[in-house]
Amino acid sequence: MLLCGCVLLILGSALSNPLDDLSLDAHWDLWKTTHMREYNSLGEEEIRRTIWEKNMRLIKAHNEEAALGLHSYELGMNHLGDMTSEEIVEKLTGLQVPMNRDQSNTWIPDNKVEKLPRSIDYRKKGMVTSVKDQGSCGSCWAFSSAGALEGQLMKTTGKLIDLSPQNLVDCVTENNGCGGGYMTNAFKYVEDNGGIDSEEAYPYLGQDEQCAYNSSGMAAQCRGFKEIPEGDERALTKAVAKVGPVSVGIDATLSTFQFYQRGVYYDPNCNKDDINHAVLAVGYGQTAKGQKFWIVKNSWSESWGNKGYIMMARNHRNACGIANLASFPIM
Ligand SMILES: *[C@@H]1O[C@H](CO)[C@@H](O)[C@H](O)[C@H]1NC(C)=O
Repeated sequence: MLLCGCVLLILGSALSNPLDDLSLDAHWDLWKTTHMREYNSLGEEEIRRTIWEKNMRLIKAHNEEAALGLHSYELGMNHLGDMTSEEIVEKLTGLQVPMNRDQSNTWIPDNKVEKLPRSIDYRKKGMVTSVKDQGSCGSCWAFSSAGALEGQLMKTTGKLIDLSPQNLVDCVTENNGCGGGYMTNAFKYVEDNGGIDSEEAYPYLGQDEQCAYNSSGMAAQCRGFKEIPEGDERALTKAVAKVGPVSVGIDATLSTFQFYQRGVYYDPNCNKDDINHAVLAVGYGQTAKGQKFWIVKNSWSESWGNKGYIMMARNHRNACGIANLASFPIM
């Protein structure tokens, strides 16, 4: 009897971690199927399952608090569910700020007191391409830069064309490809190079390759760039209103960001001094309750956030540092 119990216990623990919540077995299987996850070993699956359960608990607890009115946003499980926040930052961000930034490109908004639109959404103006997936490559900076260029291309020519982040990953020597980079280096490259290829001409591979720019595939050019005065959300609002989509850097470290699903994102732990991810501000607005937000396009596929987008708190003491490293190309 005792022996029998022991064998069962050993067998049981070989198949699943005793700490696992067995009621989540079916849910875990469904999650793996949905996101096409296969693991090399039971050991690896066990590690992933434990992380996934921790994320599930975090999401559930947050949403219970949100239902009580303690948060302005909700979380949801997504394709990042079996990764820790450290792994997500390691694999899916990639903003690297250059040591010596040239201050001569600071955008000085004119002093005219004018009424800016209360809200603006460049998606509705056809100035924003589809949401992309950077994959396991620290190329957020390339997607952010391409997105800002796409907006200006549409504004100046009336054509919405996907531009090539891979062109930037491979050819911006000031940056580090999948190892990370900064948006103004990308704009500078496009200016010096005389153009950037279209996505069609230079498709995304999500890994570092030899530079293969070919001017026959060139789809856009730019004449330089401007940077928003650091931390100035008023200037950023004005730039988004008057110029178009603006490249921004944010702190994407927190699990609440990684599992954001809907509502206005605000986490007091978001650190404006730890900016690691580049995204694109494509508009702004405010809710019926008067809560101001930025509309932000990410490059973590449509499975992330709200169909790939997030509404981030605006005029809330520069939450997540959104106005610290903001820039746009001049076309
Ligand atoms: C550039 O593209 C054109 C047209 O596709 C092609 O004929 C040419 O060989 C390419 N040049 C290089 C250097 O690959």
